[in-house]
Amino acid sequence: MIVVPGSASGALAKSLAHHMAVPLAEVAHRRFPDDEYHLRIGADLSGEDAVLVQTTWPDRNIVEFLLMVDAAREFPVKSLTAVVPYYGYARQDKKFASGEPISSRAIARAITAGVDRLVTVDIHDTLTLKWFDGKMANVSAMGQIAAYLKNYKPGIDVVIAPDDGSMYRAKTVAEALGVEFDFMEKKRIDGHTVEIKPKKLSVSGKNVALVDDIISTGGTIVQSTNVLKAQGAGKVVAACTHGVFAAGALQKLKVTCDLIVSTDTIENETTAITAAVPVAEALKGLY
Ligand code: R5P
Repeated sequence: MIVVPGSASGALAKSLAHHMAVPLAEVAHRRFPDDEYHLRIGADLSGEDAVLVQTTWPDRNIVEFLLMVDAAREFPVKSLTAVVPYYGYARQDKKFASGEPISSRAIARAITAGVDRLVTVDIHDTLTLKWFDGKMANVSAMGQIAAYLKNYKPGIDVVIAPDDGSMYRAKTVAEALGVEFDFMEKKRIDGHTVEIKPKKLSVSGKNVALVDDIISTGGTIVQSTNVLKAQGAGKVVAACTHGVFAAGALQKLKVTCDLIVSTDTIENETTAITAAVPVAEALKGLY
């Protein structure tokens, strides 16, 4: 086996190769003057089980991934596995109006052509994986997030999901920490008022970890944090797998939360956790 890093996932690819005790290929990247992308894999992949690691967000990284697959298939490889740590367009998994694409399907069709196995991390909805025919696994980084939060001083007293969709994530983290969990419930009071609060727990005087799969605009976490602080919460730590952080999000979050932490599925200044271990375990199960 050999791990081939994409430019968006260099750190995770390196950790993965280390955990699996397999070589990491050198890849040279550059852009032509017209901004078209060029890469060259500097290792012989002939006869290898090649593992390509590349987050497919933003769009330019999808193009790079397609070129990685093509370059790898040229050798020829024994098999090709795609590790897509953050799968872009996974939230657009439905047609909300006539004339729209099912974007997560369109991306699946493009990026999995020529790929034998697929591994994703905390994909927004595992239903997206139904568009791929090969062997696949979606792993969770919530265990790694819990391990990180265990060392957070002054400690986490309660884990809260910003909505019921992420409650199972909060549950996983809370159970690993041995604390209670809850989710933020939105209740419409009247035509103008929406009340948002933890469904059952009081957070007064407690340090809270808000746990989600993605932080994008930061709106969900900022709103939840403001509510929790207004209810007397102590520290609020925002922890997610994928730190997308759309323009301006991090600034807003830094003003509101006491700590923001994410994994290396998207490398950024809040990345402090690697998803390499669950990905390595999934890979072992797929061969
Ligand atoms: C929603 O279903 C997701 O789990 C996240 O809560 C959401 O994507 C966060 O988005 P934003 O940061 O833009 O509020």
